Amino acid sequence: MLKISGLELRDRPLLLAPMEDVTDPSFRYICKLFGADMMFTEFISSDGLIRDGKKSLVKLDISDDERPIGIQLYGHIPEAMVEAAKIAAGAKPDVIDINYGCPVRKIATRGAGAGMLCNIPMMVEMTSAIVNAVNLPVTVKTRLGWDENSKNIVDIAERLQDTGIKAITIHGRTRAQLYKGTADWTLIGAVKNNPRMKIPVIGNGDIVSPAAAREAFDKYGVDGIMIGRGAIGRPWIFKEIRHYLDNGEEMEPLTVKEKTELARLHLKKSLEIKGEPRGIYEMRRHYCHYFKGLPDFKELRMKLVTINEPEQIFSLLDEINNRYDF
Ligand SMILES: Cc1cc2nc3c(=O)[nH]c(=O)nc-3n(C[C@H](O)[C@H](O)[C@H](O)COP(=O)(O)O)c2cc1C
Repeated sequence: MLKISGLELRDRPLLLAPMEDVTDPSFRYICKLFGADMMFTEFISSDGLIRDGKKSLVKLDISDDERPIGIQLYGHIPEAMVEAAKIAAGAKPDVIDINYGCPVRKIATRGAGAGMLCNIPMMVEMTSAIVNAVNLPVTVKTRLGWDENSKNIVDIAERLQDTGIKAITIHGRTRAQLYKGTADWTLIGAVKNNPRMKIPVIGNGDIVSPAAAREAFDKYGVDGIMIGRGAIGRPWIFKEIRHYLDNGEEMEPLTVKEKTELARLHLKKSLEIKGEPRGIYEMRRHYCHYFKGLPDFKELRMKLVTINEPEQIFSLLDEINNRYDF
């Protein structure tokens, strides 16, 4: 069992990674249906939160049905992060997660996100200040290091643990790698197997299949795995992996009917929460993956990602359902 302070997750838990513009409430709703054991909001700018920025405030919108859920914050100014953590704590998440992994230039070169990997004393000081300021478990999500020459995650994890954080998630890439190449899990395993580490270690990076998930648990011994891109357009990956871990065999693939029903539900939720046209636009990234591999689908896909009328999209989903009867 994975314990984050008083929060207990099942054995070999599968967590949904925080993803900007992806892990909004409608996507989280769908992932939870398929058994995501814990979820996170999109990252929220601490500066935005303390300025009452609308875009930031709306991301605090979490509900009891989503528990356990973490709110993720990023920023480079300790005072602002402490203030933002207090505001976020007011939304009553199960944990506050700090982002020390975002590689985006605008964020990292300012010293926020993965930028903090260039200033470990500051990272430790800021984490400590946040841990002391809120009455909730604080967790951290980070990378192996800034670049190939500074993969210091074993040391960093120990120092972060000493601040009182309750779990650490490690994405097996450096900041310099962005999302390129493949994630290196050996260093994630090294953190987990460091006898000084007492807090749970959650591994992240490139888990896109049940076999990869099983290897992460069996070979590297992590306490949990976090799935990001593998869940985009394939939210049933949580169920697929759980089935494989429990039974040692692959789950039956979803039928087109199940997929169209899912797309329909997802679109409904997205419209309910974001309205038109955003609820429509934001669904577009998901459809392509939902129906990946269907023969002669090009034209239908084009329609799915260009039509703006909800009713027309619902009819199109019916058409897909009728045309592909398997
Ligand atoms: C579109 C997108 C948005 C992301 N946004 C965030 C974010 O807000 N916070 C964060 O910690 N990581 C973010 N990430 C990184 C993921 O959480 C994850 O660490 C990374 O994608 C590697 O995991 P994966 O191979 O399972 O996708 C984002 C990744 C993607 C692809």
